[in-house]
Amino acid sequence: MKRIGQLQASRNAETRDGWDCFATHREQVVRLLLNAARSTDEKLERRLCVLGAGNCNDLALADLAETFGHVALVDIDEEAIISGITRQGVNASEVTIHGGVDVTGVANLMSKWLPNNPAPDNEVDACIASARKSDIPRLGSENTLVTSICLLSQLIETITFTLGANHPRFLDLLTCIRREHLRLVSDLAVPGGVIVFITDVVSSLTVPDLATAPSSDLPTLVGRAIADRNFFTGMNPFVIKRLLESEMPFAKQLTDVRLSQPWVWDLGPRHYAVCALTATRV
Ligand SMILES: C[S@@+](CC[C@H](N)C(=O)[O-])C[C@H]1O[C@@H](n2cnc3c(N)ncnc32)[C@H](O)[C@@H]1O
Repeated sequence: MKRIGQLQASRNAETRDGWDCFATHREQVVRLLLNAARSTDEKLERRLCVLGAGNCNDLALADLAETFGHVALVDIDEEAIISGITRQGVNASEVTIHGGVDVTGVANLMSKWLPNNPAPDNEVDACIASARKSDIPRLGSENTLVTSICLLSQLIETITFTLGANHPRFLDLLTCIRREHLRLVSDLAVPGGVIVFITDVVSSLTVPDLATAPSSDLPTLVGRAIADRNFFTGMNPFVIKRLLESEMPFAKQLTDVRLSQPWVWDLGPRHYAVCALTATRV
């Protein structure tokens, strides 16, 4: 976990001062969360759980705290959450911080691996078995809205940095980590609640027009990139939507799965196409 935690902390340190360039992305994220809050069962007290809160640059915490009686912020990098809420002038007593939490439960195992020293099969098997059976951690309680914000791409990138993309078991581990992350998001929400799974799909490194395209052109631009198989490995939103609609336990737990139009997240040197999948927890 140490190596993976350090990697994420150094990434977060690079974007710590990104409040201004995150503005349009933050507006999209907050609007989605507030709209989703309105669609939860009215009898339930509104409680939000954010996975991948990091620097909280994509969260207007005061606005969210007005709508949600309780906000739980989860990340492997506790320092990022603390400095994020401090920058927004939020008191640590107004939110619950779950820092130093590895949402996969297997960062410890994976931290031992390096791509140039291929992990043996039995260790990959043990990692997959452990990821599958790891208990759902207690993160927030009675969450009526659970969101994961651009976290899955980081989990998949971690596999690239540890197991390596050329390892013969890369896809086995990727599909396991992706499925288990979606299971965590779904399991953390109460029946009648909503999940909002936000994910980056592709960047301006391979779709340079993302940096300048008007928002009306984005569905076509991103649709074309996906059709050309130009997206982050494992992050095709249509495949994830199908998974949520048709695979167990999601098909039984979730209803009304919807995919949003894409928007652009300006991260400074690079622009990312981002979209959200929302669903209601049965
Ligand atoms: C792209 S960032 C999300 C942006 C963030 N909300 C912000 O405003 O800075 C993804 C977050 O996932 C966290 N993360 C990565 N791997 C994790 C893991 N295994 N467990 C928990 N959090 C993790 C990173 O520390 C990072 O803060």
